[in-house]
Amino acid sequence: MLNFEFKNPTKILFGKGEINKIAKEIPNDAKVLMIYGGGSIKNNGIYDQVKQTLSNHELYEFGGVPANPEYEVLVDALRFIKEKNITFLLAVGGGSVIDGTKFLSAAANYKGEPWEILKKSVRTPEGEGMPFGCILTLPATGSEMNSGYVISRRETNEKLSSGGPGLFPQFSVLDPEVVRSIPKNQVANGITDAYTHVLEQYMTSPSSADLQERIAESILISLQETAPKVMSENFNYDAAGNFMWCCTMALNGLIQKGVVTDWAVHAMGHELTAYYGIDHARTLAIIAPSHYRYNMEDKKGKLAQYAERVWGIKEGTIEEKAEIGIKKMEEFFHSLHIQTKLSDYVEDYINTAERIEKTFTERNWLGLGEHQKITPRDVYKIVEMSY
Ligand code: NZQ
Ligand code: ZN
Repeated sequence: MLNFEFKNPTKILFGKGEINKIAKEIPNDAKVLMIYGGGSIKNNGIYDQVKQTLSNHELYEFGGVPANPEYEVLVDALRFIKEKNITFLLAVGGGSVIDGTKFLSAAANYKGEPWEILKKSVRTPEGEGMPFGCILTLPATGSEMNSGYVISRRETNEKLSSGGPGLFPQFSVLDPEVVRSIPKNQVANGITDAYTHVLEQYMTSPSSADLQERIAESILISLQETAPKVMSENFNYDAAGNFMWCCTMALNGLIQKGVVTDWAVHAMGHELTAYYGIDHARTLAIIAPSHYRYNMEDKKGKLAQYAERVWGIKEGTIEEKAEIGIKKMEEFFHSLHIQTKLSDYVEDYINTAERIEKTFTERNWLGLGEHQKITPRDVYKIVEMSY
């Protein structure tokens, strides 16, 4: 097992009605900015709940953060924060709203031009971000219990990430009741995103970190088992709760400790969102199968272990099991009505591989993956296999 440090300071408030406790988590004299997205919280009652709970706080609001949060919108929020001397941010939404809030937390005290934080991936040290809390409305990204974020810039078609230990939420409310109002295509996205987060930290070389591997496998199995229940029209509170906690656990740092991690699927996937606006999770389902087939030699031990332990495949050679593992993964995505080829989403895709190869070369992203050896040329081939 590799050496590691682990600190995750986010307090989780899990369960029905926990939103009502947030007033105690935010200082009484704070000037609070509630940040939300396109308005789903006004339709499902969460907006009213927050307003009521914080009725004794000085509360301002900023709505309209779009999916794949846009820099252009966030700079308006930043101006507002400075004008009103806001001291505490409250994200009420999915990964996009939480990521947008993290960027604002990082930018609030940053001296230079805010885009620099993303362009140069400037990390925010402990104690330097503006304090913030989250009310999660869409289980998926894990952003509610980690310190990373991803921001898009429309005018340049860029989607870049940053983070740092100063950007953990102070608290996050995980109330499974919010799952009631989520459209099924977003539930499917959430399952797929969380599932791929586990894969990025697991599908590398066999390791000696037994516990991390078994936790990763447990999250995958739990997501597989809970998927049909949360995709069903009948709301099931416990299934929603399991789904929610799986998504948080998939990317709160725990399973990546002591092991090498990949993240090349996300790097390529983010480009597909930047170019074509494809939902984040779906870009991962497009890239992951090709990525694992292309890197079969390095990953076959883990792929076979995945087939065996997660899908119960006992027969066959390592290579045969590894291929069955990839097929099972594709079938799982298809069972959620998530398509796994770029051509299922866009018609004019033929230059995509070349464009991503060029972009990664320009960014000096010359070695991706757990061994930093996936070159822009390899990226070209993986993306081409995903057509
Ligand atoms: O904007 P509103 O009106 O709230 O509607 C949202 C949005 O349209 C809607 N929604 C959310 N909760 C709902 C709901 N609709 C009904 N009922 C509810 N309870 O769902 C739509 C999608 O929301 P969004 O926040 O965009 O989805 P998600 O949580 O999947 O976040 C995606 C973003 O997170 C980034 C992605 O790149 C993408 O930009 N990621 C962040 C990560 C992190 N910080 O750790 C890791 C991930 O890999 C990912 O890259
Ligand atoms: Zn993701």
